Amino acid sequence: MRSYQRWAACAAVVGLGIILTTGRADDDDKKIRDKVEELAGVAAKKPDDLQKKAEAWVKEAKPDLEDVMGLLKKRMKDGSGGFGIGKTATGKLDDGIEARIEKLAKAGPSDGDLMNKADLIQALNRTRAIAAIAKASGTNKAGAAAKWQDFVKRMAEGSDDLSKAIESGKAKEIKKAANNLHSSCVDCHAEFR
Ligand code: HEC
Repeated sequence: MRSYQRWAACAAVVGLGIILTTGRADDDDKKIRDKVEELAGVAAKKPDDLQKKAEAWVKEAKPDLEDVMGLLKKRMKDGSGGFGIGKTATGKLDDGIEARIEKLAKAGPSDGDLMNKADLIQALNRTRAIAAIAKASGTNKAGAAAKWQDFVKRMAEGSDDLSKAIESGKAKEIKKAANNLHSSCVDCHAEFR
């Protein structure tokens, strides 16, 4: 082979490798997203089945917790990134579950939040599903299993409580429940992330 042919063949192999690897990563991301969405549906309709279903999936698929938690990040204007809140990607800072929980905790609900309860409740069902996955995943940090489960419990109960507060529409309760949920994220991250 002439050197330019060799170079071209090499470049083609590397290029194909990149396409295959990123293709696989996108595939994995989609699988994780679809599964969390499915489990969020279970959280909404058959909450008693949620933990069992999360355990089965974690055992089979061994998802990376970082990818699962990543769904709580902000959604980008083009729809990539985390779940966001509601159907439409706004590109705004609070179009992400983590950011919205934090905003509710610090400033309480806006009129828009109270008019779109269903979107927030859906976001919290997703959060609840992620808590179930975190419970099933556990931690490999030595001697820290009980602590992990404690944080997970706060995240799960915090999601349910905030959901109920949103349903009630009472701003003060929403702020308080959001504060509890948000502190479960912050406290676990301080210890484990
Ligand atoms: C039981 C512990 C625990 C709780 C509770 C928890 N997290 Fe996490 N979170 C983690 C760990 C551990 C990581 C890092 C995972 C890794 O990098 O492997 C993480 C990572 C993240 C990330 C970064 C993902 C990325 O792509 O880098 C986000 C965002 C996040 N968590 C959001 C939240 C939010 C929001 C809450 C609360 C509603 C929450 N987490 C509650 C343990 C927890």
